[in-house]
Parts: sequence; C-alpha cells; structure tokens
Amino acid sequence: MRHFLFLMAAMLLTCCSSDSEVKAQEPQGSSNGKVLVAYFSFTSNTKAYAEKIAEMTGGDLYEIVPEVAYGSENSNYYDQSTRAYKEQYDTGGEQRPAIKETLANASQYDIVFLGSPIWYGKSPRVILTFLDKYGFQGKTVIPFVTSASTGISKVNEELPSTYPNINWKEGRRLNGVSDADLRTWVQSFVGSTTQKMYLTIGGVTKTATLVSNSSTEALVAQLQKGDITYEAHDYGDFEKVGALGYTFPQNNEQITTVPGDLILYQGSNLCIYYDENSWNFTRIGKLDNMSQDEIKTWANAGGDNVSVTLSISEPTGIRQVKSDVPKSKAYTLQGTLASASTKAIIIQNGKKIIK
Ligand SMILES: Cc1cc2nc3c(=O)[nH]c(=O)nc-3n(C[C@H](O)[C@H](O)[C@H](O)COP(=O)(O)O)c2cc1C
Repeated sequence: MRHFLFLMAAMLLTCCSSDSEVKAQEPQGSSNGKVLVAYFSFTSNTKAYAEKIAEMTGGDLYEIVPEVAYGSENSNYYDQSTRAYKEQYDTGGEQRPAIKETLANASQYDIVFLGSPIWYGKSPRVILTFLDKYGFQGKTVIPFVTSASTGISKVNEELPSTYPNINWKEGRRLNGVSDADLRTWVQSFVGSTTQKMYLTIGGVTKTATLVSNSSTEALVAQLQKGDITYEAHDYGDFEKVGALGYTFPQNNEQITTVPGDLILYQGSNLCIYYDENSWNFTRIGKLDNMSQDEIKTWANAGGDNVSVTLSISEPTGIRQVKSDVPKSKAYTLQGTLASASTKAIIIQNGKKIIK
C-alpha cells in the first residue's frame, strides 16, 4: 500500500497540470488529409470528447474496444489486485491487451486524434496495442485525454519515445474545455472544421450542419455570445419561419429547398423547411439525418407557433460527461485522500487548493 501511495503522490505531483498550462499549438494550415478519431474510454468521459472531435472534423470515429472488457472493480484504483493496476505497473498484467474490432483500411488516415483516460499517470496499455497494430508511421497523431486530475505530460513523453516514427503533436487534457476552445485546438491541426448548430423546439434538440459563408460566420459569432430564441410560424405549407431579432449578411442564390434545409430570408428570418420551395435566399445549413415526417412532427408543421432556440454548444442533457471519480475527491500532496476537514494543500480536479 505504501508503495502505491508513494506512486500516486509522485504521479499527482509530477503530472498535475491545469488546461491553461497546455502550450499553444502552432497553426498547421489547412486540412491535408483524412482524419481518424480513435479512442478508448472506460466510463465514457473521453468518448464524449472523441465524438465532438469527430463531429468537428468530419473524421471517422473508431472505438478501441478491448477483447476482454474491464470490469467495474477496476474503478477502484487503490486496489493493487485489479487488472488495470497490474497492467499499468507491469506487475504480472498483460502489457498489450488485445483489441476486439479491426480498424478497416488504417493506412488511409493522415491525421489521428487518439483519446483515452489517464490510468495511473499514463495511457492505458490498450492504446499501445492499438499503436503496435496499426503503426501510423509518418502519420500525424494527436493524443487527448481525460483524467480526474493528472495532466497529460507523461503521455506526451511515453508515446513519442515508444513510437518515434510517428509525427507526434503535443497532446491535451480536455476536461472542462469549452466547445469553442476545443474547436480552435482541433482547427490548429486540420484547418477548417464542420460547424454544428443545435435547434430546440418543445424541449427536443436536433443538430444541424452549417455551411460556410459570411452569414453563418456572423450567426455563429452571435451565438457565441448566447442562444437565440425566436417564435416561428407556418408559411406556405413548406416552412416554419420567424424573425431572429438580428440581421446577418446575405449570400442569396436561387435555391430549391428540400426538407431539413435551414434558410436565412432577408437577412433576419430563419426558415426551417419541411417541404419544397424555390426562391432567391441564403443557405444556412441542414438538419442532420431527419426524414420529412420527423421534421414536420418536431416543428409542429401546420400547427401552432413554436418557440425555437438556436445554440452553438450542445445543450446539457443531450450528452453528459460522466466521471467514475466523485468530483469532491481530493488528495494531499502526500497522495492520501483528503477529507472535508483536512487542513493542508490539496489537489482537487487538477488544481492546488490551500485549505
Ligand atoms: C484504473 C484507473 C486509473 C486511473 N488513474 C488516474 C490517474 O492516475 N490520475 C487521474 O487523474 N485519474 C485517474 N483515473 C480517473 C480517469 O482518468 C478519469 O475518470 C477519466 O476521465 C476516465 O475516462 P473514461 O471515462 O473515458 O474512461 C483513473 C481511473 C481508473 C479507472
């Protein structure tokens, strides 16, 4: 136990870093390759960020699933008899746990975002199995992690020294990173990203992909300051339309709409199309993966007016970042668990707090 506490304390002392300590990345220019977002996630924290990165980059999402799943007993990371502990500390554990699913055509990817939790200060060993298996020689690989408090520095050291033929970029711990911050970071590697917008009607949120023009740029800039809520009514049996309360630049062109199209009309009205119409107006984007019937039901087509809320960040409730470690868990500098009454410097959620 002593041995473990020492390691835990050393780990926390050497690895703790807040996100603000992450060094800025040099912009990498525009996208020059196909993106893969590969991740291992035990309790879905890392998964949430992997999904966001895949959404922003339009990259393929691949979950690294161990052939033998880790049981819940591994959540107790004080227990030295767990499989995770033995693997990470190389005390009789498998150093390259096998992966279940094969990644098809791995050589097609030029940029790989590689995500995982931090386990005992380092990448889970299954990440190394993944790198052994697919190589990625000469490809760009960008690690990202989530953790209770430990920073990413050991991951940034271990992976490049073990796989020197990969073009490694400095990885980042993503806990608490805002969508806007994440997007800027992701863009520094891939250039432009896909912009999503969330539309909520009657408590049900749908996702849309925005096109890139000066109208959406201005709309997104406004949404970064806060959500926009407006009232929409039916018009012409083909759209639900309402005044946004703001005027945005127009990029008008002759368009014949299809269900799901989002159109800016005269710079200040947003139309959610559920049927066909031809006019000279500005394309904003399109609802993702919704049939005409689904759009009509959701938008209350032909029914009463609806309140529509536009948001640039995913409303809470759609996706929740879970943690297998209670938020209140804190450690002293000696690596022992701190209680509410502990009077000392403690480390909690990656921050040093003097009590
Ligand atoms: C076996 C194990 C070891 C862990 N070791 C650490 C650690 O050294 N430092 C830390 O800050 N968090 C540690 N954690 C907490 C996880 O890194 C954290 O909860 C992470 O966000 C989980 O990501 P996931 O949900 O994608 O699995 C550990 C968790 C487990 C299960």
